[in-house]
Amino acid sequence: MKKKVLAVVLASTMALALAACGGQAAATSAPAAPEAAPAVEEAAPAEEAAPAEEAAPAEEAAPAEDAGGDLISVGFAQVGHESDWRTASTKSCQDVFSEANGYNLSFVDCDNDSAAQLEAVRSFIEQDVDYIIIDPIVSTGWDTVLGECEEAGIPVIVIDRTIDDSDKYVSWVGSDFLTEGKAAAEWLKAYAAKQGVSEINYLIIQGTTGSSAQIGRTDGFREIAKAEGWNELDAQTGDFTEAGGQEVMESFCKSYAGKFNVVVCENDNEAFGAMTAMDNAGVTYGPGNDVILISYDACTAGLKEVQAGKITADFECNPLAAPTVEKVIQTLQSGGVPEAQILVPDNWYALKDQIVDFSVDGNAQSMTEVTDAVIEAQY
Ligand code: AHR
Repeated sequence: MKKKVLAVVLASTMALALAACGGQAAATSAPAAPEAAPAVEEAAPAEEAAPAEEAAPAEEAAPAEDAGGDLISVGFAQVGHESDWRTASTKSCQDVFSEANGYNLSFVDCDNDSAAQLEAVRSFIEQDVDYIIIDPIVSTGWDTVLGECEEAGIPVIVIDRTIDDSDKYVSWVGSDFLTEGKAAAEWLKAYAAKQGVSEINYLIIQGTTGSSAQIGRTDGFREIAKAEGWNELDAQTGDFTEAGGQEVMESFCKSYAGKFNVVVCENDNEAFGAMTAMDNAGVTYGPGNDVILISYDACTAGLKEVQAGKITADFECNPLAAPTVEKVIQTLQSGGVPEAQILVPDNWYALKDQIVDFSVDGNAQSMTEVTDAVIEAQY
């Protein structure tokens, strides 16, 4: 299909996809945030071991080629390489969009630099790729460049983090960060009650400021904290890195010595850095110790720290969205209209004694006990 014709089809496809999801086809209004959308398709049930990966066994499928028999060209503007989660996400995309599977992948590691990410997207337009995948470092500043993609007739698929100021993309595939934040706080509420902890004084080491992962987790946690009357001592960004987590925690240990009993790290790598800082400051953490340490991501290395009794509970953000993104591309290839929003389900992890009953927005949650087998199956 010629790109100019595709531009018209693409605009209609986006409107249809968004209308199917939120009941709105307005080309100028941003799609509802994932947690607000009434009709969100889930990639697969949360209970299954590796749902997103199972959703599309790309390795076994016939190579995906465009109508002319060429490889399908895909540009992927990745956030960077700041965390174990990111490494798993990159590997998942590179595995799925391989030549053996019928793709020619242009991969750009944007090193957490928003200007570089916009440049990467524009370079994909220059290359005239067939599809563009963006994991947006921050959630705003996208409408102009997405308009350029639309004008060029290149469908954009957003992965992981969300875009808040534009609806000029076909689909978003990722986790619900607001729910992750609420789950962490609801778990804390139930766990503190079980432990007889009556006062919560918490610190947050946030992710990259302005990223939807940071915004959702912070907002979700704070919503419950506020309702419960917990005391937030401070919140500062660790930029989703181990070094950032350590630096922030070193400063927290000096400023709030003896005053905090909960530390919330918005990803595992920040938690590793915070652990080093607390070790150096003589603060004990994990089940049965001074501080309840909460983390997000639940990558292999994070779950090992749960098993070691360091991280008290870990709230997953599943990085294996690429097989679902491939399904979106295949739907577009065959002229279909993909879902506007596709949730990748997450699990919540702890050791047996830290597993408690809780619900999020009235929905009962189940937790997974961390065992050798669970760690082995993780990414
Ligand atoms: O956007 C997902 C977040 O980004 C992950 O929690 C974190 O590890 C990554 O850097």
